[in-house]
Amino acid sequence: MSVLSTVWGTFFPTNMPLSFHRRGISFRRILVVVTFSFVLCILYYSHSRRTQSATGFVPEEDVVIWPTEPPEIWAERAAQVKNAFLDAYHGYERYAFPHDELAPLSNASTNSFNRWGVTAVDSLDTMLLMGLKDEYERALPLIMNSNFSLPVNTAVPFFETVIRYLGGLLSAYALSNDSRLLTKADELGTKLSPAFNTESGFPVFGINTYEGVESGPPIGVLAEIASWQLEYSYLGKVTGKKEHVERAITITDLLNNANLTLSGGMYPTKWDLATGMPRDLHLSVGAAADSGHEYTLKQYLLTAQTDKENLEMYIRMTTHVINNLIFISPQRQLVYVTDMSTYKLEDTRVSHHFEHLSCFFPGLLALGVKMLPLDDLESLGIDVEELTRDLLPRDRRGYETLSEFSLADVHLWAAEAIAQTCYMTYADQPTGLGPEAVVMRAGGMFRTTLWMDAVRAWDRHGRQGSPPGVGDKLPWSEPPGLVSTRERDRATISRDYGVRNIAYYLRPEAVESFYMLWRVTGDVRWRYRGWHVFQAIEREAKTPSGYTCVDRVHMKVPVQLDLMPSYFLAETLKYLYLLFLDEDILPLDRWVFNTEAHPLPVFTWTPEELTTYGFAEEHLPSAML
Ligand SMILES: *[C@@H]1O[C@H](CO)[C@@H](O)[C@H](O)[C@H]1NC(C)=O
Ligand SMILES: *[C@@H]1O[C@H](CO)[C@@H](O)[C@H](O)[C@H]1NC(C)=O
Ligand SMILES: *[C@@H]1O[C@H](CO)[C@@H](O)[C@H](O)[C@H]1NC(C)=O
Ligand SMILES: *[C@@H]1O[C@H](CO)[C@@H](O)[C@H](O)[C@H]1NC(C)=O
Repeated sequence: MSVLSTVWGTFFPTNMPLSFHRRGISFRRILVVVTFSFVLCILYYSHSRRTQSATGFVPEEDVVIWPTEPPEIWAERAAQVKNAFLDAYHGYERYAFPHDELAPLSNASTNSFNRWGVTAVDSLDTMLLMGLKDEYERALPLIMNSNFSLPVNTAVPFFETVIRYLGGLLSAYALSNDSRLLTKADELGTKLSPAFNTESGFPVFGINTYEGVESGPPIGVLAEIASWQLEYSYLGKVTGKKEHVERAITITDLLNNANLTLSGGMYPTKWDLATGMPRDLHLSVGAAADSGHEYTLKQYLLTAQTDKENLEMYIRMTTHVINNLIFISPQRQLVYVTDMSTYKLEDTRVSHHFEHLSCFFPGLLALGVKMLPLDDLESLGIDVEELTRDLLPRDRRGYETLSEFSLADVHLWAAEAIAQTCYMTYADQPTGLGPEAVVMRAGGMFRTTLWMDAVRAWDRHGRQGSPPGVGDKLPWSEPPGLVSTRERDRATISRDYGVRNIAYYLRPEAVESFYMLWRVTGDVRWRYRGWHVFQAIEREAKTPSGYTCVDRVHMKVPVQLDLMPSYFLAETLKYLYLLFLDEDILPLDRWVFNTEAHPLPVFTWTPEELTTYGFAEEHLPSAML
């Protein structure tokens, strides 16, 4: 790409009109230029291949000096996050309560999530974890008095309502043991249930909780139709109501019965709500798909590792992602997970977009590394033959090549490398805040490198240095003295990505993964990365009445928008708090975070429940077989 555009620029200055003939450019001249460019490309390509094969893959590593501070410092930082939460919540209470969200510059409120006070409900468990009794007591009456009603002919989004409201209520119940919260959760879960009135049983997009009618398009996206089983199975467990449990089982069966041959064993993004079958071949762990993948592992963990179908799904998904969707950039060796679409068989296009939303994925991998015997899946009754039976030969080969490595190693390296890239997208910006989406430089026409290819090359040549993408990296900064936009754009080539969406929406995914990696590896670097992110939030996103989304994070002078999403209090500040808190108050083997960071306790079904709910054998704890 860069070679071609340079050649092009030399022969055809950009101000040249597009019609060749009027300027007297002959076909022969064009042919010469095209041939010349082609030869240059070949030379460039073969040269880079030669250097790579002669030296093997030697990962680039910067020397980063990490501070050596006394460990007591972290308790004080956790206290700073708690103060940030108080500032944010008090601003909401003062200017926006009982509406949904605070507009923290104009001191106004917005109502984009049902008008049931989403910030208060989403914040309940964070208050309990931080020991904020007064704020909690002040929020409770709003919840107790809510009837989850709506004006006629409107609808609430099923997915967002489940993860924010139902998840928030259930988590606050689990942490407080206040049965009134459970009653409200049961009421809400029941009022949302008309969403399941589709032919397949997948939930439709929206419901009117007053009229009990559902509405929405006939096609759903994975994240919205397949991430509510944690909430409904825990609700079923604690209420003892069969209908809630059955919904959670139905979704597992539906997903498990889908034909995933063409998507390599991974759930694609779009699904038909009538037939329950996939409707496209777009594979992604980012927007519209993310939590659908997240809930496979988490449903398995929440049910005390009894639900084997979800575990199998997790193994198939991660294997396909590792073999096909994780790439490494050419210069800085930034490892990223992206998405691809298959239009016709053999016409597959990789976007090389890397979304902030995808930054949850390294944390999920790390959680799997901690909780699963990845190198001894047979001990859990996982049979690779069976797992790959319906896959195409090329996808089955992916399992063979991966089996040359320790699966736990590969998952952890991928987690560390991608989470580091998430961090670099923050550290590279003058604001220290990470953009919503970047587009990675894939390395020119021929040189797109799958991360696993780099790992294999590194392995073949004696594993010098850290695995590709894992070693420390220094932030990128613009070379000094550049004036024109063009010069500055060119300079970003050495950064290996362009910023595609320049806003930071106070999202949690990066610090969520730092938290998971800190708990799983005990490596203090994750705490420092999180600390840098928190300092940037304090510096750039704080307003007199709260915290706001920020635009133009890639400029020295960013622009504050006027919105404080409820997930900032439910997720971003919660994960930062837990990251700095020394005490492990939510051990990962006893609590599972829903996709809105609401922790739910791991539970087991009693023998009576298993009989009552008619569980299939796959759902039985192995001890009961
Ligand atoms: C919003 O409230 C804060 C804190 O009370 C105050 O400092 C600020 O001036 C207010 N902004 C507007 C636009 O009223
Ligand atoms: C629900 O509560 C709202 C506000 O408190 C009230 O206006 C409405 O009449 C109630 N609806 C029902 C069905 O009770
Ligand atoms: C929770 O509350 C119930 C009564 O609502 C009580 O029976 C139970 O012992 C409590 N559990 C805990 C752990 O406090
Ligand atoms: C699944 O789909 C593939 C490709 O369309 C097809 O060849 C295969 O027979 C299907 N498998 C089942 C079990 O229906």
